[in-house]
Amino acid sequence: MTSNKKLLNWVNEVAALCQPDSIYWCDGSEAEFTKMAELLVEKGTFRKLNASKRSNSYYAVSDPDDVARVEDRTFICSENPEDAGPTNNWKDPKEMKELLNGLFKGCMKGRTMYVIPFSMGPLGSKIAHIGVELTDSPYVVCNMRIMTRIGKKVLDVLGDGNFVPCLHSVGFPLADGKADVTWPCSKTKYIVHFPAERSIWSYGSGYGGNALLGKKCFALRIASIMAKEEGWLAEHMLIVGVTNPKGEKKYIAAAFPSACGKTNLAMLTSALPGWKVETVGDDIAWMKFGEDGRLYAINPENGFFGVAPGTSMKTNPNAMLSMTKNSIFTNVALTDDGDVWWEGMTDEKPKNLTSWKKQAWTPESTENSAHPNSRFTTPAEQCPVIDPAWQDPRGVPISAILFGGRRSNFVPLVYESYNWQHGVFIGAVVSSETTAAAKGEVGKLRHDPFAMLPFCGYNMGDYFKHWVNIGKNAPNPEMLPKIFSVNWFRKDEEGKFIWPGYGENIRVLSWIFDRLNNENNFMTTPIGLEPIPNSLNIDGLNISKENFEKLFYIDKEEGLKEISETLEYFSLFGKNIPSELYQELEAIQTRFETTD
Ligand code: OXD
Ligand code: MN
Repeated sequence: MTSNKKLLNWVNEVAALCQPDSIYWCDGSEAEFTKMAELLVEKGTFRKLNASKRSNSYYAVSDPDDVARVEDRTFICSENPEDAGPTNNWKDPKEMKELLNGLFKGCMKGRTMYVIPFSMGPLGSKIAHIGVELTDSPYVVCNMRIMTRIGKKVLDVLGDGNFVPCLHSVGFPLADGKADVTWPCSKTKYIVHFPAERSIWSYGSGYGGNALLGKKCFALRIASIMAKEEGWLAEHMLIVGVTNPKGEKKYIAAAFPSACGKTNLAMLTSALPGWKVETVGDDIAWMKFGEDGRLYAINPENGFFGVAPGTSMKTNPNAMLSMTKNSIFTNVALTDDGDVWWEGMTDEKPKNLTSWKKQAWTPESTENSAHPNSRFTTPAEQCPVIDPAWQDPRGVPISAILFGGRRSNFVPLVYESYNWQHGVFIGAVVSSETTAAAKGEVGKLRHDPFAMLPFCGYNMGDYFKHWVNIGKNAPNPEMLPKIFSVNWFRKDEEGKFIWPGYGENIRVLSWIFDRLNNENNFMTTPIGLEPIPNSLNIDGLNISKENFEKLFYIDKEEGLKEISETLEYFSLFGKNIPSELYQELEAIQTRFETTD
């Protein structure tokens, strides 16, 4: 299938180490997917869903201990610990290799090792890159076929070229007649990145970003390192095309932490007549300057790996319509007629379900029927509002970048940065209440700069510097995207969300759109440019004037507290924090002190 020496040698080396029973090169065909899915049905990992409800779709539940990304088991093994920085786990690369060589030895016994050549981004795009994942999990193969472009066509583009080697094992060898289980995994988990070799080793988990190595490991952690070295950006961002009632179109990228509504914003159904949103991507953006000096973005993925609970025909009809066929559902609940259900899908709960824990479930049950991080894997091309340019190898020109988190207080519904450098500061100070996307406590406020805390493959202070430099070295600073902060999650005194969110977020996008056309619809505040009264359309919304004002209220005391807390946070990074961010902090402090 290939004469690429580096690839052939690596496959042989890994096979000698992991000792699989056989090796299978994925061609990426439909027939291959069907064969693999049938194999998974035979093993009991997959169950085929009722074809009259959802054709060519499958259902899986994981081991209850393997349900989310494992951030505390994720390592950046740079030569120098400072290059990983204070927000990443680090281990000496030689020591880590030794440890992993021990773990991977014989780990694929009794299994097939699948070779998955994959492209992150449209095949042949100058912004795209190729990886090869070796895995002993057919579940991973099926998901990778939806989430990336895989198979023979990728090898054809690769030729003798370079690729990112991604090695994955569920860590459950079938030696000496050991019986398989429906979701093999190991208690010992390692998700490891070697920046010097640009390689990835993942052991012990079969779930999501731990195992689909094109996504977080390659497209964010390794790609962020490549991007810094080569002068581009690899970001945890959705990309959308927004068209106003006059037919004018602009592309916007937005970074929100995991499970904070990127998929919903990416597929938004406008509550305002005449406005349209089309999807380019819902999770990752790779951006490079074009010859015209504008920043162009591609979605390196080929599918959506979205959080299921809360997704419904009301909150995200386009996601619901995307997953009516050719999809995989993991850790949701199963209905009696062989379809899927999750909390929030319908107002009325089904009378009987089988929960993700394989237990009988009724509306009286005290536990949720679907795991809060249960997911759908679905092809992007099935999205009814997929943007016509979503596979354009040149990417789409980005006019605005949004940063946001889940913040019940302080952060206004929307504001704009004074300039690029101030925008970088806004990205750097994003904090958000934690969600079920990662193992650990939910609802705890943590810093999540640029929504990249778990995904930046190098020192976060250097990452901030890289963003500052992108602005300084831009071929045409006038063409840089404008930067905004948004927060859909502010709560009132009773703990209720003030802003309705979802389709109504178009109101915020439309204010942003006007700013991109340089409309004079803003006023200055200590933290940035906010909408002037009546410039943000709330006609027809059931929101009192008092509550609307609360969405924008900036308390001076709270602001000064945020400043001193930010100073403390920045000090974590020592000399790696760019001085420009301290300048921005001082400027905000001065603006607060000179405003009543
Ligand atoms: C994801 C995540 O799966 O951010 O996209 O956790
Ligand atoms: Mn994500």
